[in-house]
Amino acid sequence: MHLTQPSAPLLDIAAIRTEFPILQRMVHGNKPLVYLDNAATTQKPTVVIDSISEFYRQHNANAHRAGHVLGAEVTSMYERAREVVAESIGARADEVVFTRGTTESLNLLATSIGARLGPRLAEGNIVLTEMEHHANIVPWQMLRERSGVEIRVIPLTDDGALDMGRASQLIDASTLVVSCVQVSNTLGTENDVSTLCQWAHAVGAISIVDAAQSVSSMAIDVQQIGCDALVFSGHKVYGPMGIGCAFIRRELLSDLPPYQGGGSMITNVSFDKTTYADGPMRFEAGTPNIEGAVGLCTALQWRNALDLRDVQSYKKMLTDELVAGLRLRSGVHVHGAHHGHSGIVSFSIDGVHPQDVGIMLDTHGVAVRTGHHCTMPLMKRIAPQGTVRVSAAVYTSHDEIAQFFHALDRVMKVLL
Ligand SMILES: Cc1ncc(COP(=O)(O)O)c(C=O)c1O
Repeated sequence: MHLTQPSAPLLDIAAIRTEFPILQRMVHGNKPLVYLDNAATTQKPTVVIDSISEFYRQHNANAHRAGHVLGAEVTSMYERAREVVAESIGARADEVVFTRGTTESLNLLATSIGARLGPRLAEGNIVLTEMEHHANIVPWQMLRERSGVEIRVIPLTDDGALDMGRASQLIDASTLVVSCVQVSNTLGTENDVSTLCQWAHAVGAISIVDAAQSVSSMAIDVQQIGCDALVFSGHKVYGPMGIGCAFIRRELLSDLPPYQGGGSMITNVSFDKTTYADGPMRFEAGTPNIEGAVGLCTALQWRNALDLRDVQSYKKMLTDELVAGLRLRSGVHVHGAHHGHSGIVSFSIDGVHPQDVGIMLDTHGVAVRTGHHCTMPLMKRIAPQGTVRVSAAVYTSHDEIAQFFHALDRVMKVLL
């Protein structure tokens, strides 16, 4: 539905843009919005917005509770959403837990895996990477405070790739968990998560992949990756905020204790003893974000209707354009050298604070992110003041990249 004839460009970007109402917005009076902050959150197509509105107009009820017609409809919409998430990542529906997003998924995993490992933690280690988002650092540190588990960090090479030589040494017989980001939200680096998962399994460790930045454009198959768990947020894949999921491989999911207690996650409650539900519902205490699940379902169906190979080729073109244009400008430094088709590029300008660049770009209608991007340990290594991050999505046009450069040149003229 989104493809034109085989000649380039492969995707009809102009048609895709019409599906995103916010892209028509003007900001600061009469400036067309150039939204290049897609790594923070993506915009939503009309079908997603409509599906949420339709949910409240026609169906609203609680799921898994009432026997009336609305209750039955909503339960089936919620469970259909679980199936669509599963189909989108090569999993089974009973391996998909709905959460508030990547952060909650990682907290769930750190807490429940920590409880399952118990005393083994004191003798073991958890392997992360230097480019992790805080969401994949802090929950493990909280577990370290409770248990004394060691945290090991795979360092980066100078060009922003993971040092796989060091990774192979750090993952050893006492490793309990390896948790790694698939695409860095700061550098755009794409990591070889399959190899890390293989190495984790070779030593009997649990492998986790943070797919927050990859899910919008990469075909994700948890069987091919070989991970035990994979997490992402709906709002980074054209879906609503406050919904996300954790794929947890069936054998691991059955073995993990609950994360939170309450309604829905039980089979029987008495004051002496409670027994817990099987499957994903064991991790979904209380009323879930049903409208979020419905919106995420629509967003994934929208994504799945795109040819993701074309999306990746297109995003690679945009990424290359950004990197080449930035490198042409004197005093501008692009961080990392492995952006691939991530659409994410971080840069700094000699003698200029990144925040000033961001504020001034905004006055031209160009939205980017500045700062540490929730990757403070990485920033300490590459740019202690932070960076300016430009991030493209499937609806980003070449014209918008040109407008970004035009605005950047005007900003640099003022600031330098
Ligand atoms: C790589 C990565 N991991 C985790 C997160 C946290 O996602 P959320 O804030 O949606 O929970 C983000 C968000 O920027 C991210 O980019």
